[in-house]
Amino acid sequence: MDTLHYLDGRLHLEGVDLRTVAAQYNTPCYVYSQAQLTANWQAFDQALGEHPHLICYAVKANSSLAILQQLARLGSGFDIVSGGELARVIRAGGDPAKVVFSGVGKRHDEMRAALTAGIRCFNVESSAELYRLNALAGEMGLKAPIALRVNPDVDAGTHPYISTGLKENKFGVDIDEAVSLYRQAATLAHLEIKGLACHIGSQLTSLAPFLDALQRVLTLTQALAQIGITLQHLDLGGGLGIRYRHETPPTPHDYGRALLAELAPLPYEILLEPGRAIVGNAGILLTRVEYLKQAPDKQFAIVDASMSELLRPALYDAWQEIIPVVEHATPAKTLFDIVGPVCESADFLGKQRSLSLHEGDLLAICSAGAYGYCMSSNYNSRTRPAEVMISGAQTHLITRRETLDEMLARECLIDLQPIEDAHATQPRT
Ligand SMILES: Cc1ncc(COP(=O)(O)O)c(C=O)c1O
Repeated sequence: MDTLHYLDGRLHLEGVDLRTVAAQYNTPCYVYSQAQLTANWQAFDQALGEHPHLICYAVKANSSLAILQQLARLGSGFDIVSGGELARVIRAGGDPAKVVFSGVGKRHDEMRAALTAGIRCFNVESSAELYRLNALAGEMGLKAPIALRVNPDVDAGTHPYISTGLKENKFGVDIDEAVSLYRQAATLAHLEIKGLACHIGSQLTSLAPFLDALQRVLTLTQALAQIGITLQHLDLGGGLGIRYRHETPPTPHDYGRALLAELAPLPYEILLEPGRAIVGNAGILLTRVEYLKQAPDKQFAIVDASMSELLRPALYDAWQEIIPVVEHATPAKTLFDIVGPVCESADFLGKQRSLSLHEGDLLAICSAGAYGYCMSSNYNSRTRPAEVMISGAQTHLITRRETLDEMLARECLIDLQPIEDAHATQPRT
């Protein structure tokens, strides 16, 4: 399915000409395809066929309420990493009984909220967390459902900032210590062991690291069975990559088939936590060229989006395709660095892109649905952009553009002393 396409030289998402979105909602603006989002989630769900499974969308990839709402409607579970994400899932109509809670730094209040909501499982990432959760569940007169998130020491072969399954990473518990920790968990009165979790990184473009991790996880399940610990589910995390440029990642279907080759005969329910592969190519960032600027040895196109709205290029040196919303009839192309107005040299969206550009032109930054809006900030006091969901020929504003008043609303001035008094209170030297 390709919901982003040209029709008579005009870029459309589903049935909507993106010029009309810019005219109605202004730029910069994130625009998503509901059909693409749905197809991507269903591809994971179908990939595991009849085997018991739950697709727990990783909320961190895009936590906007209408995205979560659509996924909840499809029956999705959710992987959360904070109390804030839990609140979003509940607000969007998600079922807390389908929520798994990952993250190395769960606070007391976040654990309490998750226990109160009755989530499906805590993916515990350290011994200290295990004991804290046991104590808290005891105080509340509950049993906390848990899995240990193990770190299998597998190189995901991805950018170091999004690799999480190596010994040197802060995530999970060392797989060699997992048996001992499970043994301790089994003695704690307010915990109930449900499963085992593992997530090795993001934007993986081959199956080998996933299967390597799976083998290590299966070896661990055998060791656990020998000491009488049986598991109901294996949570294999997220991480399946998408195509930004030349990558050829496995499809959810390929991934599902490879997992089932190992897991179909085993009694475990399979949980997956995909984020990027569900929402990444379901969204674009729409931006307008403000200025063209000739520097001594390059041309800049300064656009109205920036690292404040889309951090990936600045943070990971990530490459995202940038295409015109209107194809020019005479496409004489020039190499441009596409940059934003933010006062950082890291503020670029694409470098050396061959485009035919004029002031006022609209551009689409592709595959911006994941780790886009949710990583945006007010840096340089820029208000956060709008988000629009397209469904067929309809557009729905799902997040209003932030106003200046909203941006300033939580801040206040303090009662300062008059300047002369301040001088009087200075200590004498
Ligand atoms: C524990 C966990 N699960 C799932 C994900 C989602 O990864 P992705 O968006 O690559 O599928 C992440 C991302 O970092 C994660 O840390």
